[in-house]
Amino acid sequence: MKLPPEKIERTVSVEQAISQRRTVRTFISEPLELHQFSQLLWAAQGITEKRGFKRSAPSAGALYPMDVYVVAGKDSVAQIEAGVYHYEPQGHMVSLVTGGDLREALSRASLSQMWMAKAPVDIVITAEYSRATIKYGKRSVRYAMIEAGHIGQNIFLQAEALGLKAGIVGAFHDKEIIRVMNISSSHEPLLIIPIGYQA
Ligand SMILES: Cc1cc2nc3c(=O)[nH]c(=O)nc-3n(C[C@H](O)[C@H](O)[C@H](O)COP(=O)(O)O)c2cc1C
Repeated sequence: MKLPPEKIERTVSVEQAISQRRTVRTFISEPLELHQFSQLLWAAQGITEKRGFKRSAPSAGALYPMDVYVVAGKDSVAQIEAGVYHYEPQGHMVSLVTGGDLREALSRASLSQMWMAKAPVDIVITAEYSRATIKYGKRSVRYAMIEAGHIGQNIFLQAEALGLKAGIVGAFHDKEIIRVMNISSSHEPLLIIPIGYQA
């Protein structure tokens, strides 16, 4: 599904977004608009270069070993069915990986942090190290973790600018997350970012 284009002007300053950012763990069930969903994914890994290659977050050697998935609930995002989606930076679109509301299963796999299931969407950032090992060897793992941090902060600040709040979760069982989301085991989950309106 093609997403609406990003908007690059807004009244919230970067300083306001930084100073307001807080890890939030209570959400209401109010759905996100499609343009908010689109904007969050663009901030995470959207193409920001005219020639259509470089992205919103830096990447060592521009090798882009990261993927962004969304676990969306039922009635969580306008025009989006419940399911796991993969964000495709080329074309600014999402493709369905698995259908169904998997937020509770995702929360259980995250040491039963059930608050995550109340957020309309949980964004999952994964790394496929092999895309960078040709150039950086073992160091690619370090670089991918740094990249996950950049992507995570982009999402946090974009959420603030959209009037949304985000949480951040690093405590989960990797294999369980991969199983629940039905993604390739070559994609290691590094961060999960629940997003919605604060309760
Ligand atoms: C790598 C990382 C992993 C984290 N994992 C969790 C987590 O599993 N559950 C949780 O509730 N908070 C988690 N947090 C959030 C921290 O508890 C939070 O950032 C910290 O208390 C500072 O608060 P603030 O983000 O509101 O400034 C994590 C933060 C980071 C950076």
